[in-house]
Amino acid sequence: MPSTNIATIASLAAHEGQTVTLRGWLYNLRASGKLLFPIFRDGTGTIQGIVPKAAVPEAVFDTLKNLTLESSLTVTGKVRADSRAPSGFELDVEDVHILQRVPDETPFPITLKEHGVDFLMEHRHLWLRTPRQSAILRVRATIMRAAAEYFDTNGFIRTDPPILTPNACEGTSELFEMDYFDDDKAYLTQSGQLYIEATALALGKVYSFGPTFRAEKSKTRRHLTEFWMIEPEVAFLELDGLLNLAEGFITHIVTTVLQHHRADLKVIGRDIPKLEAVIGISPEPATEPGAPSSPAHLQAKVGGSTAEPNRFPRLSYDEAHAMLEDAYSRGLIENPHKYGDDFGSPDETYISSQFAKPVMIHRYPAAIKAFYMQPDPADPTKALCVDVLAPEGYGEIIGGSQRVDSYDLLKSRIEEHSLPLAAFQWYLDLRKYGSVPHSGFGMGIERAVAWICGLDHVRETIPFARTLNRIYP
Ligand code: 4AD
Ligand code: MG
Repeated sequence: MPSTNIATIASLAAHEGQTVTLRGWLYNLRASGKLLFPIFRDGTGTIQGIVPKAAVPEAVFDTLKNLTLESSLTVTGKVRADSRAPSGFELDVEDVHILQRVPDETPFPITLKEHGVDFLMEHRHLWLRTPRQSAILRVRATIMRAAAEYFDTNGFIRTDPPILTPNACEGTSELFEMDYFDDDKAYLTQSGQLYIEATALALGKVYSFGPTFRAEKSKTRRHLTEFWMIEPEVAFLELDGLLNLAEGFITHIVTTVLQHHRADLKVIGRDIPKLEAVIGISPEPATEPGAPSSPAHLQAKVGGSTAEPNRFPRLSYDEAHAMLEDAYSRGLIENPHKYGDDFGSPDETYISSQFAKPVMIHRYPAAIKAFYMQPDPADPTKALCVDVLAPEGYGEIIGGSQRVDSYDLLKSRIEEHSLPLAAFQWYLDLRKYGSVPHSGFGMGIERAVAWICGLDHVRETIPFARTLNRIYP
């Protein structure tokens, strides 16, 4: 392998006019008589090579002419600026060495033609190599980095909870169960929340970031059985402060993605101005021109969306319900929303379509929310909780709440929900030894990636998706 001037495609601007060696794969090949146009990729990008028969040794031309796609190679050539090239450069190829030639009998299965999604998921280990999938994974990495960075730079301590747990956090029907020595059972965690409530009371402001598991039998475009969740938990924080925290957090993530990934977002096909509107750049109306907007009496109430244009709109459950009733009466949604029920996917889509920014819906009926949520002192049938709905119909990306801080109330909640009291004794201890108001939320990384990249299914947001009917590859 030539050792001189090894470069990556992403760094070619620093090598203009030089002869460099790239290490990668043959992504595509076009021939036009005595000219070859191979496209190389190396993980950092793609670049087109130019190979005139007359300008290169015969062996180089012949090797490339018949080369199969995705063969691995090193290629040496001179970097030439070309304003028409997507990367801004082309490579005048001088030499090529094949590391492994893909056999003619077994060509790379993913071609530039359209493939069905089942075929692509079955070949996910190879599909990842295509530019759009690589771009999504780069954006995912930045979303994860920015999410952790927001807490790391704001005084939070990362405290990772166990993945093997003795009890449920979010409802017992969704647990993956496994044997745990001597007839004991263990469950894969659904959320680190209960544990980070303990670390929050030790350290003040904490977060956790790791894989979580839900044995939900839901086959929707938003559900995975294994997904990554980042969860902050803060002592002495109440619901209003939690909403501010979620808003600052989302704003930081979107800002960071826009700073670093405009080219990737273009490859993915994201409508970038819609993303810019979230952080207040070139705000635009959320609804299509001519579409009916939300009624004036609701606009006035949505957390200052008119008075404070940079704030995410905040709606109580009751206000959101009223908005849906109004939409139904005007024929804008198909089914009425029943007061007391959770919002369905079409309800969430309608609500989010009324705003250019994520919408924070707070104070749901306690009856449809988790046992650990603090009741609203102004109306104890409501929980001090929040769901953040992403714009453009991407649905819930964040769920959180203020936590019950009274020992007696929490104990009766555990009993009402038929949860095993013994397993929760340690959790109740947190209300016995210096209980304080505290709050937190969880954001599913894949839901955030789906929204920020504009993908209609979460299966493309994670390297290897685990869903109800797929655990291969
Ligand atoms: O709303 P959830 O269930 O809330 C909790 O787990 C809380 N204990 C979090 C907390 O307060 N610390 O889940 C939180 C988020 C959802 O808003 C969604 O983004 C994501 O996790 N999520 C899923 N993502 C993909 N597939 C699934 N099956 C998901 N279930 C939840
Ligand atoms: Mg939720």
